[in-house]
Formats: sequence, structure tokens, C-alpha cells
Amino acid sequence: MAKVERSSGKIGKTGRRTTGRYRYALGLMAGTSGDGIDAAVIRVEGRGEAMQVRFVLHHQVAFDRRFRNRLLAAMAPATTTTQEIARLHAELGEAFGRVAREAIEQLPRAHRPMVIGLAGQTVCHLPGRAGSRTVTLQLGNAATVAAMTGLPVVFDFRQTDVAVGGQGAPLVPWTDYVLFKSKSTSWAVQNIGGIGNVTWVPAGGRAADVIAFDTGPGNMVIDGLVARMSGGRWRMDRDGRLAAKGRVLESVLAEWLKLPFFRQRPPRTTGRELFGQIFVNAELDRLRSASAVPEDWIATATAFTARTIAASYRRFLSDFSTRKPDRAASRVPSGAARPRRPAQVVLTGGGSRNKTLISMLQAELPGTPILTIDELGIPAQAKEAVSFAMLAIARLDGTPSNLPAVTGATRSVSLGCLCPQL
Ligand SMILES: Nc1ncnc2c1ncn2[C@@H]1O[C@H](COP(=O)(O)OP(=O)(O)O)[C@@H](O)[C@H]1O
Ligand SMILES: [Mg+2]
Repeated sequence: MAKVERSSGKIGKTGRRTTGRYRYALGLMAGTSGDGIDAAVIRVEGRGEAMQVRFVLHHQVAFDRRFRNRLLAAMAPATTTTQEIARLHAELGEAFGRVAREAIEQLPRAHRPMVIGLAGQTVCHLPGRAGSRTVTLQLGNAATVAAMTGLPVVFDFRQTDVAVGGQGAPLVPWTDYVLFKSKSTSWAVQNIGGIGNVTWVPAGGRAADVIAFDTGPGNMVIDGLVARMSGGRWRMDRDGRLAAKGRVLESVLAEWLKLPFFRQRPPRTTGRELFGQIFVNAELDRLRSASAVPEDWIATATAFTARTIAASYRRFLSDFSTRKPDRAASRVPSGAARPRRPAQVVLTGGGSRNKTLISMLQAELPGTPILTIDELGIPAQAKEAVSFAMLAIARLDGTPSNLPAVTGATRSVSLGCLCPQL
């Protein structure tokens, strides 16, 4: 699946950029779903918060079943040797390099990226709380990507934030701020990948007014249960068709909503450690005793995602709260008037394809417009890669790109380490 937009840059006779007005960057993302690699190429004009971004190309490559199983095993605690981690690091580096090359081959020469932003594949993310250190690991050797593409690569974005005391996630909020800041509309940019995470960009707010946190599971529990009910044949509930046939098992859902994670305040991040295979394995018995119909399990997991998204908005985002906003958790943008229009939700990530999930979310947020980012010109599945391409450009410019209030970092830094052209 690839889409090319031929945008009109100022191209000189040699086909190289001559004015420096436009820069092209490529982002490489492999999320906690373990579904594969997304590459996105963007065209950037300007810098810092004034950066104007145009989507150019999305190239997506799925991991084959064997590789995916190795990855999922590496993400589950205590099942993987150091040797296997080192092998995955090397193989992922090559996989990222191949996907980047395939994306670049689809571009006209003049649109060749000047830099690659490599998010890497997170295999471990243990957020530190109350001053304790965050432990996080992303695989995929950046030097291999640099060697295979002949381009400089910015990588280890998360480690940079962790180095200054942050949780290393979420890192897309600064890019969401750049993309969505508006005087009149507040945006909740909701990514539904393996995990769900939101960036709240309040109308008229500044970067420091952005609130962002993990809402809870995205597709991870759904995918895990679909794999179990199909004996490993299916990876996902395509378009939410299975969930649409099931009924929500309220007693099971009530238990899940009691997890301590949902009581935590931002900054909060989570990953496969909480909602991965161990969760699915542990909860299967509970689901089986509540219903023998697997579609009911999927409907319940889908409602879990929808309800935890909506509940976290009501708790932490002032526009959605039915009671007086909690001062510690939801900060009103400095100097901003109340939004003139109702807040909008824009969905990104593969979960935005799940129609049952969207209708459950709409039922939870009546009156709130919910759109997908495709309607704004970026394929939903490419959005995170777009963000990492933006972060790579920000790194070249030295633009601070973490939001300390979001990650818990002690200061703002320009995220990422640079591997120069090899
Ligand atoms: N057509 C679809 N219907 C339902 N779910 C989908 C569809 N396409 C993708 N997904 C879900 O999206 C996930 C991948 O989303 P992605 O944004 O890549 O997440 P991550 O960043 O965690 O890899 C898949 O694992 C699947 O659960
Ligand atoms: Mg993915």
C-alpha cells in the first residue's frame, strides 16, 4: 500500500532543491501492535512551531507471522535471551533500512529526504513513577539504516527524553501541537495503535498548555483475543466486524476498569507489559466463564478501549468534564478564551479503521465531532511516522521537541541522537 502525491516544490535544473524553502524527511515507525513498519515522507516548510507540513507518501510493510511472533515473544517478560534481542536489533535495522529504501524509490529524485527519523521498535517500556527511572528499549540499528540509505538518521528519541528524567513517551504531542494548533478549535488527537494515547491541543493554547497521556489499551487486547479465538489465524478484528456481532460483557469490563493504571494521573504511559499477552492469557478464563461466544469477548475488549478513552477525556480534559475541572489535572490555556467551537476528536492509527470502536466512542462522547485524520490529508496509519519525520527535522534544527509537562522530563530538549551519513 503506497500513495504518492507529487507536490510542487521549487526544483532546479539538476532536480535538486535550490531555494532551501522545502525540506523532505522520512519517518520510520513500528508500534506496539507489532504489525509491521510504516514509512512516511513529508515536505516541510519553515521551522520550529511555524513548521508547515505536507504529507507526501506512505509505505507500509507488514511483518511476516514468524517475525511477528518473535517480536511479541521479545515484548513478553522473561522469555527472550540477550542473543535473540541482539539478533532482532540487527534484523530490524535491516528491515527499517529496506522499507526506507522502498519508500525513497517511489519518490522523484528532487523529493529525496534529507534525514530519516527512526522511532525503532519498542520491546520494553517500564515507565518510572514518582522520581524513579524509566526503562525503555527500542530496537533497530540506526547505523544500518544510515548505511543502507546513505542518509543521516535521527534515532533514540525516547532515550533522550529519559536522559533528562522523562518517561520517554508520548513523544508525538509536540508534533500534534504543530499540526493542530488553532485559535478557534480544541483538538483531541487520539491515536489508536497497540496502546491508545491522546494529545489535547486547546484552542488558543501554547505548547506548554498541551496535555497528553496514554488512555489505556488501543488495539492490543482486541488483537490478542482475536488471535486466541482464531487459533492464531487472524491478527485483527478487521473493520470491527466481530465486535459488531457480539455483546459487551459488563461484569468483565467493570473488573478491567478497576486496574490501577486508570487511576493514575498524567504523565502516564503504558505498553505491552500491562495489556499484552499476559493480560489476554490471564483474562481468557474470566471471559470464557462470562460467555462462550468469542464475539462477545471482542465486543468487550472494543468497549474497553472506547470507554477508557472517553473516561480519560472526562477526567483530564476540561472541555469534556461534566463536573468542575480538576485543577491539578486539566490546565486551562493561558490567556485563551474558551473555545468558540466544540472540541473535535481526530483519530489516528490502525484502530481508526475499526467501525465498531468508532461507534462505541461516539456513543460515549455524544455531540463531539469525531473524524479520522485521513479526512485531513494524512493516512491514519502513517501519522506516527509523520510525527517522527517532523521530530527528525526538529533535531537538525535543534528545536526543543519534548514537552516536559507531558513526559515528566526535567527540561525541554531536542529529541534524538544523530547518526551522520555513512
Ligand atoms: N481495517 C482495520 N480494522 C480494524 N483494526 C485495524 C484495521 N487496520 C488496522 N487495524 C488495527 O491497527 C493495528 C495497527 O495499528 P498501528 O497504528 O500500526 O499501531 P502500532 O503503532 O501499535 O503499530 C493493528 O494491529 C490492528 O489492530
Ligand atoms: Mg503499526
